Amino acid sequence: MTNSRIAAVDVGNDAVKALFGKLDSELYIPNVVARDLEDRPVIGIEELDEKDPLENIHIRVHSPALTENNVIYRVGSLATKSSNSTELDPGSHKSEEDQTLVMLFAALALDAVDEKKDKGFRKTNNVIDANYTLGTGLPLREVKEGKDVGYRAQLLGSVHQVEFLVTPKYQGLKVNIKFDEVKVYPEGFAAYINLVMDNDLNIINKDLIDKRILIQDIGGLSTDIAVIRNRNVDDDKAQGFNLGVSESLEAIREEIRTKHGVELDSRRDVVEIITRKNDRNHIMVRGSRTSVHDITDRILLELAKKQYRFLRNVWQRNSQTEICYFVGGGASVLKDYLKTLNNNLDGYNIEFFEDEKESIWMMSNAYYKLISDYVRRNQKTEEKKDEKAKAASSK
Ligand SMILES: Nc1ncnc2c1ncn2[C@@H]1O[C@H](COP(=O)(O)OP(=O)(O)OP(=O)(O)O)[C@@H](O)[C@H]1O
Ligand SMILES: [Mg+2]
Repeated sequence: MTNSRIAAVDVGNDAVKALFGKLDSELYIPNVVARDLEDRPVIGIEELDEKDPLENIHIRVHSPALTENNVIYRVGSLATKSSNSTELDPGSHKSEEDQTLVMLFAALALDAVDEKKDKGFRKTNNVIDANYTLGTGLPLREVKEGKDVGYRAQLLGSVHQVEFLVTPKYQGLKVNIKFDEVKVYPEGFAAYINLVMDNDLNIINKDLIDKRILIQDIGGLSTDIAVIRNRNVDDDKAQGFNLGVSESLEAIREEIRTKHGVELDSRRDVVEIITRKNDRNHIMVRGSRTSVHDITDRILLELAKKQYRFLRNVWQRNSQTEICYFVGGGASVLKDYLKTLNNNLDGYNIEFFEDEKESIWMMSNAYYKLISDYVRRNQKTEEKKDEKAKAASSK
């Protein structure tokens, strides 16, 4: 058998977070795509190769899994600069959007072409045959509707090809992606696994494992609250809300523009301003250091109040809950506000992750743990089969 490389991919509405191999590489790509209607002007190779491939993902994707096949896309930050870019819409089904697949395939293809690590993939001329064992997830709501089955089947069922067009270093390369196995986990359950188990799925948090837990995942466009009981997600109790932090970040950006005449490039710039260690909540306006604390405080507090209402609502219907963990990029942004609200209001037992990276990479870490455990167990069964076969043949 050819080499099958582990991939754990969280296709978040805001960004894709992916871990590969023996954790030898990782990728973070904003979830934005733009269809290319006309060909981009070809840039001189020398000029192009000085650029970062990740900033210039330009691909054509062939796959029977796509509703629209053979479309050319700009992906990630290259798409941000385009006027017809699309981000996922809060009401949509992740499992049914071409965009989800395009982001997933783009991430895998970028891993496959990166030559820093030898992955044992076969390369003939300009075509790389890349085999992956994939762990990924879907929102609980979609798993409840059984959408994971079709999603998995279409990934497993065919070869998916990514062709790099005007992308530095990779221009002209094609990657044929084939999946040896695909596991689709429900997002809330994955977060729980990450909390209680280490990379070998040993229990690291004995205290927590049998508790009744809520996990409130505040993402870019949505918030999901998983209810954990008896070491399992309680499907009927879980709640999803179409509200994340993106809207508030956009509102802050807009108000800074109208009030101070300063144009920030993206929501990410807003995140930087509100989370950085030094000079937090300040910007330069015509060369003078200026506070925007009034703006950020008001808008974030408003969002935190809404998030707190979600928590209250779910906790009320799960009164024996012992603790709620806040995860996702939104948890980092709202941490101080939620803590203050909670101190002044109901005083729930709530917990955050100090390290924002842990919060944002929670899902992909969990998929990594689950899929590598699957691979390990599978290898053991294979070895046992081999031993049995050997024993039988020597009789
Ligand atoms: N280092 C950071 N610190 C604080 N906030 C961040 C950081 N990185 C990203 N964010 C913000 O947190 C928000 C949510 O990010 P996250 O990666 O959790 O969303 P997602 O998983 O892609 O979205 P969803 O869960 O809705 O599918 C984004 O709006 C993002 O701008
Ligand atoms: Mg998320």
